Amino acid sequence: MPVTHGFKIPLMRPIVDQEMLQAAAVSLQNEKLVMGESVYKFEEEFARYCGTRYAVSTGSGTAALQIALQSMGIDQIDEVITTPFSFFATSNAIIHAGAQPRFADVENHGFNLDPQKVEASLTQKTRAIIPVHLYGHPARMNEFRDLADDKGISMIEDACQAHGAEQNGRRVGSFGHVGCFSFYTSKNMTVCGDGGMIVTNDEQVADTARSFRDCGRASKYTMARIGYTSRLNTVNAAIGRVQLRRLDKWNEARRGIANLYRRELTDAPGVELPPAEMSGETPVYHLFVVRSDHRDQLALHLEKNGVEAAIHYPIPIHLQAPYRARYRYSEGAFPLAERLAEHVLSLPIHPAITEEEVRTVSRLVRSPVPE
Ligand SMILES: Cc1ncc(COP(=O)(O)O)c(C=O)c1O
Repeated sequence: MPVTHGFKIPLMRPIVDQEMLQAAAVSLQNEKLVMGESVYKFEEEFARYCGTRYAVSTGSGTAALQIALQSMGIDQIDEVITTPFSFFATSNAIIHAGAQPRFADVENHGFNLDPQKVEASLTQKTRAIIPVHLYGHPARMNEFRDLADDKGISMIEDACQAHGAEQNGRRVGSFGHVGCFSFYTSKNMTVCGDGGMIVTNDEQVADTARSFRDCGRASKYTMARIGYTSRLNTVNAAIGRVQLRRLDKWNEARRGIANLYRRELTDAPGVELPPAEMSGETPVYHLFVVRSDHRDQLALHLEKNGVEAAIHYPIPIHLQAPYRARYRYSEGAFPLAERLAEHVLSLPIHPAITEEEVRTVSRLVRSPVPE
């Protein structure tokens, strides 16, 4: 049974069903454990799902970002601009790739990186930008694409929280030169373990990424580059193929839950809902995140009543200890991201949560929070 940490209503609940168990057993009994047939099939199916020509699986989402950057030739003298308000793996991957992370602040009213603030932060050394589709809300892809094309830099989408999200009829991951996904166990689809995927239309980037993730091989015992052991295990790919077939249905369920929360929490005192959906946009609600001036008390109130809530993320990346030490960041550098870190609260959302549970959570969110 997936772990629910003893909460009556957990934040999320990984799904493992009979078909996934069966796929795992068949894979373990019949395939090569590493780089078996399921890996290639999963890559093919994932590329088709995203609407890209190629997909290259990796050992994690972080590795997908790092390998994507390195496969695009981004190196030590290059700067890559991203958001300070994400899971810290986004910018760690830039450092792992050997480049320098730079940040620009988020939108005034949303959670995502602001294209205009990115433009104002570009330098001669900027080689790429990494917008993140945070919580499953697509970032402003048209503006980022125009900016990247105009300035002759690359755009890499961090779609680790947004499998299946769409903007103007296209799936995220397919807008940038490269899109990166994570299959970590909390994501909208998982591989029941760690895993990641790079999607792209660029054949050379795909070929280079395939070599990087497999020890830098050119062939079995010749090397083209200094690579990594960062392959997706065959059994995980076999499970991922089953989960991919379920993804649209699960995302639809998440969207229904988000709509129910929106209805139940309309006018809830002191609570700000996630930004309204823009026309042509289909978010996939990896998380349902509200903002509150009494966030910490509200989280405690929910916890005392058996509801698991969480903060994604309590410290913006630039204020994490290693970033302060390395880049000398301090409070006030990115005020909107810092404000979000103080106010955001993620409420339970997953495909199997019931309407009754959503109503229970909403009642608690609306009820007066003890001081
Ligand atoms: C936005 C974002 N980027 C990158 C990652 C890194 O993915 P992984 O944990 O698979 O390395 C994650 C997830 O954990 C994430 O949420």
